[in-house]
Amino acid sequence: MSVVDQVKDRLDIVEVIQPYVPLKKAGRNYKGLCPFHSEKTPSFVVFPETGTWHCFGACGTGGDIFSFVMKRENVEFGEALKILAQRAGVELEPASPQAAEAEKRLDLLRSIVAAAANYFQHLLLNSDEAGRARAYLERRGLVPDTIDRFQVGYALDQWDGLLRFLTSKGYGVEDIHESGLIIAREDGSGHYDRFRGRIVFPIKDQRGRAIGFGGRVLGDGQPKYLNSPQTPLFDKSALLFGLDQAKAGIRTAGEAVIVEGYMDVLMAHQHGINNVVAQMGTALTEEQLKLLKRLTQRFVLALDSDVAGDQATLRGLDLARQVMDREVVPVPTPRGLIRFEERLAADIRIVSLPEGKDPDEVIRESPSQWVELIASAKPVMDYYFDALTADLDLSGAKGKAEAVRRLGPLLADMGDRVQRTHYLQMLGRMVQVDERSLWQQIQQTTGPKRPSRVERPSRPAEAREEAVLDLEAHCLSFALSYPQLLEHVDAALATSDEGPLSGEDFGRPDDRAILDSWRQWLAEGGSQDARAEFCDHLDGNLQERVLSLIEAQEKRPKVADELLRNDVLDVVTRLRLRNLQRRIHEMRFLLDDPEDLGAAANYGPLITRTAVRIRRMERALNERSISGRRQHQDAAVRVPVGEE
Ligand code: UTP
Ligand code: MN
Repeated sequence: MSVVDQVKDRLDIVEVIQPYVPLKKAGRNYKGLCPFHSEKTPSFVVFPETGTWHCFGACGTGGDIFSFVMKRENVEFGEALKILAQRAGVELEPASPQAAEAEKRLDLLRSIVAAAANYFQHLLLNSDEAGRARAYLERRGLVPDTIDRFQVGYALDQWDGLLRFLTSKGYGVEDIHESGLIIAREDGSGHYDRFRGRIVFPIKDQRGRAIGFGGRVLGDGQPKYLNSPQTPLFDKSALLFGLDQAKAGIRTAGEAVIVEGYMDVLMAHQHGINNVVAQMGTALTEEQLKLLKRLTQRFVLALDSDVAGDQATLRGLDLARQVMDREVVPVPTPRGLIRFEERLAADIRIVSLPEGKDPDEVIRESPSQWVELIASAKPVMDYYFDALTADLDLSGAKGKAEAVRRLGPLLADMGDRVQRTHYLQMLGRMVQVDERSLWQQIQQTTGPKRPSRVERPSRPAEAREEAVLDLEAHCLSFALSYPQLLEHVDAALATSDEGPLSGEDFGRPDDRAILDSWRQWLAEGGSQDARAEFCDHLDGNLQERVLSLIEAQEKRPKVADELLRNDVLDVVTRLRLRNLQRRIHEMRFLLDDPEDLGAAANYGPLITRTAVRIRRMERALNERSISGRRQHQDAAVRVPVGEE
């Protein structure tokens, strides 16, 4: 039995979900308010018998305990597996002895930083020396509850207060050094504390574990803030300050607000504005955005007025565009065909704060003004228009061409047609070109990227018997081996009004994670040929699955392209059909629930809609199999089997 199965076997899905979502028994199943969107009547259902959950409301998602933890804790598959395996008491085989060693090392460093955070906190609250710090924080308007919630502390103005405390706890000097809290003296005569006479803000990872500090001088002094150095635990560019506290708030608000600094975050949360995180003074990085995008696709950057226009900000925004998810949408062409376009699924806005003020001050003075400011945030495109043309002379041909060159790709990326038209008109006015020819010109220069051909992985030396794959494995192995067909599959699904193949189609949590990562990899421009490289990015438990699926695919007899296309489409359609049939089955259960009086009204229409989908897909499947047989006969004659 795989580790994943063992974990599933040992854990009761109701017990896993219950702490997050109060569940009520409803017949054989359980119901609650969906934790992934806000609702008043429960449409989140847990099915203990199948170990699955499903939201029949607005978000329409579902899965098993792994996908639940991934979504809820905002973690990757590997991390969810770790969390659940620990609960289940299942030993995870470390990817390698080195990896196990490294993980133990990180645990030790985390425990050192945690001990330091407690020590600093204790000092702030109790030491005489910290009297000034307490007064300072009070003057800055922080209340004890906020100080407590963020575990703000104070580092004594001594050379080795922390060092002595930690060694007395039994930690080794080298380990403390590696955690970034002490600095080695240049003459080799020992170490001294990094943070001295400063207010310290513990910086926590998104699971709330302290991994470093930011230390502020009392009053004026240089540097104003001192941060932990890069350590095995702490990478400032891959963190957001306050994310552990803001996770739930971001989800509820459906929006994340990104500010510059520690004080901004504390002040926001103190005023009940819970969706605020800080990038800690640097430009936004890709890792930071990745942390957020699993929580929301709506961002507001609230930047101090002095940085809003600078190059680093622009780069951060550009990055944001690249990192955000794209949705693939079918677009009908004039000839009645369907074409697929990738569109940015994110909504990124930017708000420039009043001259000379940072969020901390705005919020402190008037929380309601803050709310208004955020609500009035400008779409990032307006911001781009200003920022990217500020240095151009738009009266000349050169300046105009440059404006189109800079803004064109951004317009081409825009999801909403209406919005795009709006900005096309704006740019058109700017450069005095009519909107239509402008759009043609833009499309010519930013045409869609064509996928390159896939190189087959080399065959294993010895040929074993053909592996028998179940429907799901089959589907995934196709997706991995023939990514160039995914577009075709999505297009065909769309003609039955079905969404693209996604992780949701898969039952096994590892398969879901693989498919999603694979699509993301491809969407981010990862090469289809570089499956080994793709594999390297995955959790060890997933890597094995990918390799075995590719190998299984390798052993299948090779068929002509057209047959292959139909094969793939068939498998995907059958998988989707099977899931829909299961869904209906589940809903019938709910209909039979004697305690749920509203069941019929809730699920009746849903069942009908699902049945319609099933019929539509079955029809498409039948039609294809008829034309497919015809093609098969042709193809078998025309194209030698195994030829590529
Ligand atoms: P600010 O200078 O705006 O600081 O830098 P702040 O948060 O408003 O601090 P107060 O209000 O004066 O106490 C914004 C962020 O940039 C980083 C910190 O993360 C800070 O919160 N920063 C700033 C540093 O890392 N080092 C510095 O010397 C200054
Ligand atoms: Mn400030």
